[in-house]
Amino acid sequence: MKAAIADRLNGIGEYYFSQKLREIEELNKTGEPVINLGIGSPDLPPHPDVIKTLQEESTKPNVHGYQNYKGILPLRKAIADWYQKWYSVSLNPDTEVLPLIGSKEGIMHISMAYLNEGDEVLIPNPGYPTYRSATQLAGGKCIEYELKEENNWQPDFEELEKRDLSKLKLMWVNYPHMPTGQQPSKELFENLVAFGKKHNILICHDNPYSFILNDKPLSLLSVDGAKDVIIELNSLSKSHNMAGWRIGILCGAKQKIDDVLRFKSNMDSGMFLPLQLAAAKALTLGEEWHDELNNIYKKRREKVFQLLDELNCVYNKEQVGLFVWAKIPATYANGYELSDAVLQKTKVFITPGGIFGSAGDKYIRVSLCSTEEKYAEALKRIKKISLQKA
Ligand SMILES: Cc1ncc(COP(=O)(O)O)c(C=O)c1O
Repeated sequence: MKAAIADRLNGIGEYYFSQKLREIEELNKTGEPVINLGIGSPDLPPHPDVIKTLQEESTKPNVHGYQNYKGILPLRKAIADWYQKWYSVSLNPDTEVLPLIGSKEGIMHISMAYLNEGDEVLIPNPGYPTYRSATQLAGGKCIEYELKEENNWQPDFEELEKRDLSKLKLMWVNYPHMPTGQQPSKELFENLVAFGKKHNILICHDNPYSFILNDKPLSLLSVDGAKDVIIELNSLSKSHNMAGWRIGILCGAKQKIDDVLRFKSNMDSGMFLPLQLAAAKALTLGEEWHDELNNIYKKRREKVFQLLDELNCVYNKEQVGLFVWAKIPATYANGYELSDAVLQKTKVFITPGGIFGSAGDKYIRVSLCSTEEKYAEALKRIKKISLQKA
């Protein structure tokens, strides 16, 4: 058939959640609705001032046209000020900052800007699935590095050094890590910069969770000399409850921003002006905003701990970010089996850790994006039904 699907989609399935949501919709047609504790899409609204900015700006007659590909200066300046204030990183708003229409999209842009056919890319296992799919779509070759609980979910540099890294071009890292909730240490970040320099590779740090349940936001760009080898993605999706607004950020040295812009400007256009102004507003929010959000997440997390106790799962209470990651009991073969049993018997959906890679197989991930009432209801449902396998 002439219109057969392109080879580049070979081995790339539909995104797990897009498939699962359809199954949940079907289940919803039968009796009580499914409680979805899967996706990390913040359920709370952005700050009222952010919404007000969008409303007021969008009523103006002259804000509806195409915008500059690089984003407006007030937004780039707000991003640079935000990086200085929270991460002590100095960025030139003219050259070292690029607003993105979502950081997930940025992962694709970076992959398309840098990868030639067969170039090797280190991706974390477990890790955010988009690093793999973007690499494959861009023609790169995924090389996994396993993160282990006993190693605090950090890369094993000794093991990496033993490999042939001659074709390695790029490495994806993400701390606070999704899905494990592992926080970075300054030492880990220094090791990453040293590794990037030693092997002359580009390290892409994906940093959307640094404000969630974490009072020490860290940027990989804060390490001395980092700009030589590091670019960093950030996002307003989780930190400012703006996931549907699609506002991401790329920071790094001028040359790298120019490289990514060269691809991106051929792919999408500038963001809607009122959105950019509202995003700039969001970035000026202070500690009270994050404290208020985190107090809510803390209370929810306690409920999630109870739910995981009921399922005989084991977890680290120090983890940060928008999820709780937990090891399943040995009575289940893997997280898929536990997740399916819970969904079928209680109509509660939790994410199997295996979707983040084979090293996540014995784990599940519960999102903190539901109300306390929903967690209480989920716990009630789980308590009612015996999930213990004989
Ligand atoms: C690790 C990680 N990176 C990036 C993203 C994408 O965020 P955005 O909404 O900015 O595209 C997510 C969203 O779930 C994520 O978990």
